[in-house]
Amino acid sequence: MSQLINFAHRGSSAICPENTMAAFAKGLEQGATGIETDVQMTKDGKLVLIHDESVARTTGAEGLVKDYTYEELAKLDAGSWFGADFHGERIPLLEELLELTQNRGTIVNIELKNGTIQYPELEKRVIEAVRHYNMAEQIVISSFNHYSLVECKHIDPEIRTGLLYGEGLYKPWEYAKLAKADALHAYHRAVLPEWVTEAKQHGVVYHPWTVNDEERMKELVNAGVAGIITDYPDVLNGLLQTK
Ligand code: G3P
Ligand code: CA
Repeated sequence: MSQLINFAHRGSSAICPENTMAAFAKGLEQGATGIETDVQMTKDGKLVLIHDESVARTTGAEGLVKDYTYEELAKLDAGSWFGADFHGERIPLLEELLELTQNRGTIVNIELKNGTIQYPELEKRVIEAVRHYNMAEQIVISSFNHYSLVECKHIDPEIRTGLLYGEGLYKPWEYAKLAKADALHAYHRAVLPEWVTEAKQHGVVYHPWTVNDEERMKELVNAGVAGIITDYPDVLNGLLQTK
């Protein structure tokens, strides 16, 4: 019954290697209605889905994403670090995720990973990909780089944006409006129920992250958040089914 968006964080990342096609597919199978992912750019300008700037943690190789060509990056094993069953999973292209979700109505939260490394025209390139797949209504672009969110709105005012932050913002809905953002992607401990109500009155919704505890999910659902970002989309789906 609930329209709340169940975002699988980096896919179903509690049971699959994060940001792989296996994780995205599993999230959808478990009832996720949204996928959260992280985008960066290779040396030859391909948009790839990986959280860290370095490939080390999830592939065992060395170096930064920005210093690999896509051909080189695609040869890395992004699954074995998580478990032998996932040997051979690759770092996907953004377009692979868009193709997977395009006809399912899935909401895709694309986080621009451009805090310390500035990828050339990342905002423009991501929006071009979204427009290529005619998916503007299915997309929320988020970033901890709030200049980047303003740039997204400058490029395409119809693209929804989510303002990522940890904690400590005073009246974050006011700040969201300043940054032209549609949603607050707040660390979930920084969300109070009365703020959710007040933000909504200002036309701003909450998509808190990363909520893995079922009791906390319940509190946030009852508070009226519009979406929840979780490593356990199956748990959130179960909760929403009982509503
Ligand atoms: O979008 C919420 C969350 O993904 C932000 O933190 O480090 O998991 O990308 P991180
Ligand atoms: Ca992220």
